[in-house]
Amino acid sequence: MNIFITGGAGYIGSHTVLEALRRNHRVFVFDSLERGYREALDRVQTLANRQIIFIQGDLRNREDIADALKDTKPEIVIHFAAYKSVSEGEKEPEKYYRSNVEATVILMEEMIKQNIRKIIFSSSAATYGILDRMPITEQSPTNPISVYGKTKLEMEKVINSFTKDYGLEAVAFRYFNAVGADESGEIGEDPRHTTNLIPLVMHTLVGKREKVYLFGDKFDTADGTQERDYIHVSDLATAHLDAAEKSFNRGEMMILNLSTGQKTSCLEIFRLAQEISGKTLNYEVVGPRQGDPVTLYADNSKAKYILGWKPRRDIKKSIQDQWRWTSKYPNGYSY
Ligand SMILES: NC(=O)c1ccc[n+]([C@@H]2O[C@H](COP(=O)([O-])OP(=O)(O)OC[C@H]3O[C@@H](n4cnc5c(N)ncnc54)[C@H](O)[C@@H]3O)[C@@H](O)[C@H]2O)c1
Repeated sequence: MNIFITGGAGYIGSHTVLEALRRNHRVFVFDSLERGYREALDRVQTLANRQIIFIQGDLRNREDIADALKDTKPEIVIHFAAYKSVSEGEKEPEKYYRSNVEATVILMEEMIKQNIRKIIFSSSAATYGILDRMPITEQSPTNPISVYGKTKLEMEKVINSFTKDYGLEAVAFRYFNAVGADESGEIGEDPRHTTNLIPLVMHTLVGKREKVYLFGDKFDTADGTQERDYIHVSDLATAHLDAAEKSFNRGEMMILNLSTGQKTSCLEIFRLAQEISGKTLNYEVVGPRQGDPVTLYADNSKAKYILGWKPRRDIKKSIQDQWRWTSKYPNGYSY
């Protein structure tokens, strides 16, 4: 199959490119490289012993994406390209609406022109906002609180409306917290553009940061710290390829949570990271962040049922793989 991957030089994208090559698909990667890395793609090609075709372009520029789709004529688009920082989105909302929402409208219009009939889209748990009832299911209400979460929900709506109007096949995956790295330790999340807990913990353990902040330890949870549902990036990649290889009803966007269904506390992460690395973590407890949910975890039974997929790696394996990547490449991709 010819698969076109926007944002394929980024964290989740590069792991998905690797999985697609391992399954013998032909892969075109479209990425601006603003927050992605050629080095990641070089390593992916070495790991898979297969080549991709790389097109450098910006989704906000219609010509870039129009030419790329015309030249490559893929059967499927997997759409990762977006900005993903909650804090940056609050400071620069226009940038987020333009790069996430408007760019998706351009992508969909150009897909229609080239008669490309299937899209798999990276949505996010951030579309749900703060909910009282756990686990979150796909029927839970969506009330995103951040600009980032709002843009992800808008992106879903854009794709849904094109899907209905043009009878496309579409899947929107709402990922929970992506973690880990390919087992080889050769690719992973570059530290430059992440504010996620586990990469920050790893960076502190390799001596690149002084400490990690723990935002509150008096919550109403088993150990007083916040709980999240961490899903291994290679399990996310597998789900994308399972969906690419499956047929879906035309005209109906399928929404699927990608999660483990398990919650892990911040202190448990610290404990595992210290055990795996053999190092002591320096952390400081500070006040809770406003609008930050205490506990988030999701029911993944719909994805399991629809795709025949399941997460194969638990939190310990995720931290082991993330530690391998960080200790091998403490500066991420060459800089
Ligand atoms: N990482 C997570 O925990 C997480 C959770 C939920 C959802 N997501 C979503 O998954 C997707 C991928 O996330 P990631 O962690 O791999 O992010 P990432 O920043 O590592 O990758 C995004 C890639 O898209 C590229 N890109 C961004 N804007 C572009 C544009 N306008 N044109 C062309 N390329 C562009 C970047 O250069 C980068 O390579 C994003 O859409 C994100 O919102 C991520």
